[in-house]
Amino acid sequence: MPLQFDLFTLLPEVCLAYTRESILKRAQEAGIVEFAVHNIRDYAEGKHQITDDLPYGGGGGMVMKPEPVFAAVETVLGAEMGRVPIILLTPQGRLFTQAVAQELTQHGRLALVCGRYEGFDERIRQHLATDEISIGDYVLTGGELAALAVADAVTRLLPGALGDPTGAQDDSHASGLLEYPHYTRPPEFRGWGVPEVLLSGHHAHIERWRREEALRRTYVRRPDLLARADLSAEDVRFIDRLRSGAEAAAGPSRGDDQGHG
Ligand code: 6GU
Repeated sequence: MPLQFDLFTLLPEVCLAYTRESILKRAQEAGIVEFAVHNIRDYAEGKHQITDDLPYGGGGGMVMKPEPVFAAVETVLGAEMGRVPIILLTPQGRLFTQAVAQELTQHGRLALVCGRYEGFDERIRQHLATDEISIGDYVLTGGELAALAVADAVTRLLPGALGDPTGAQDDSHASGLLEYPHYTRPPEFRGWGVPEVLLSGHHAHIERWRREEALRRTYVRRPDLLARADLSAEDVRFIDRLRSGAEAAAGPSRGDDQGHG
């Protein structure tokens, strides 16, 4: 059974456009996921189908009215209300991580509700939503980009979605580490070479090199992740060497440290 995403939004075309490309498109064609995009405005009453209103107590901005959001979600989910997570995308939500993406793969259906304006009427949060997710500590104009980020990250974890038997297991964050560097042809570009080991055909050496580069990058860029990663004794020895040495360069660099000329 495909995992079904129900996206509730005031910008259905924006959401649909993204679901029609690339991995989300292929995952739908392969029967791994289904997307249904619902325009919240279709569930608003009155000639003008208004979905926002002034905040009680005054102040700036507009607030998303409760009636159209409740009507949209309740109509679409019907008898499945209570069995399907109803996730609000807001900057006040719990932080979206690879672990949260993994957790969401366990459901058969997910409702993602995107806000616009200054925010949702609090009764939507308290009496309709079952979860609230933020994709990071910055403010977006609406929840659509966040909902699509969630749908994309969850979909790529589903078996078969990447059309690659190793799937998402090497992705940055899959192991709790940042991903190792990648190279493709040509072997020399503007005088910059490719690490010799990758051309060696020696798989054990390549694996070890990739692991060390992933550790090095994570150590330099995201030491907070390293503290929580699953590390072997050999990994720990490598990190100890990084700590004591100066050979930790792993950031974006316009230097010529990888070149052969
Ligand atoms: Cl989920 N929504 C909005 N509007 N801004 C955000 C966000 C969500 N996550 C981070 N910033």
